[in-house]
Amino acid sequence: MTAFLEIDAITKKFGGFTALDNITISVGRGERVGLIGPNGSGKSTVVNCLSGVFSPELGAIRFRDQDLRGLRAFERTRLGIARSFQLPKPFRSLTVAENVRVPLLYAGRGRSKAIDEQCHDLLTRVALHDKADWLPAALTQVELRKLELIRAVATEPELLLADEAMAGLSGSEVTEIVAFLLQLSDDGVTIIMIEHIMSAVMSFSNRLVVLVSGKKVADGDPQVVVKDPIVESAYLGQ
Ligand SMILES: Nc1ncnc2c1ncn2[C@@H]1O[C@H](COP(=O)(O)OP(=O)(O)OP(=O)(O)O)[C@@H](O)[C@H]1O
Ligand SMILES: [Mg+2]
Repeated sequence: MTAFLEIDAITKKFGGFTALDNITISVGRGERVGLIGPNGSGKSTVVNCLSGVFSPELGAIRFRDQDLRGLRAFERTRLGIARSFQLPKPFRSLTVAENVRVPLLYAGRGRSKAIDEQCHDLLTRVALHDKADWLPAALTQVELRKLELIRAVATEPELLLADEAMAGLSGSEVTEIVAFLLQLSDDGVTIIMIEHIMSAVMSFSNRLVVLVSGKKVADGDPQVVVKDPIVESAYLGQ
């Protein structure tokens, strides 16, 4: 029996620079993993290797026993891997509803309900149904974050990679997004949350993985990991 997700000794280089150095992370179905580390430590690069933007030079990634090597981003989406971007990337010229229809039409895996109904249900879940006909430019920061997340959810992921879904939000908005991610987790989605806001990380995660300069320096119980001297020193002065 292998794990739900196995990141097995991957190394990713950009020219002579090693962004990920022999990283191994094994994630079980249903886990809520917080992936943390200082700026530039390689967190988004892990997401990009999982979602098919980059191919690691060494190592392998297996998702539900399938080797992901050579699979393109849309093929990984169809397998059940979705990601939200650190900087929200809606289609600027499409309405809020159309932005959700795109992943429903092209990547959605369930076809039980009509697209219109699915779109409305998804927008309702993040309280954007009243703004279905708006352009993304008219949305607030937290609404853009919600749109970004719900576009990922529209693909019916089994694994969601949420890359800094809360950057720039107020305390109460952060609480709202954490609650949304916890609800998704309750619905059975395995989630890797990348986040600098430690209160959010600690209230969400049942496991913490720490990267520093492309190396994994800690992996385990969040309460234990945050007290690890290596982790504390990595964050000193931050
Ligand atoms: N496409 C790329 N080309 C060259 N270097 C890159 C590329 N993408 C990332 N890097 C470098 O790899 C390192 C890790 O970047 P990454 O974006 O994974 O960090 P991060 O942990 O997500 O940081 P942050 O918290 O600031 O988002 C950085 O030094 C970055 O400059
Ligand atoms: Mg990043």
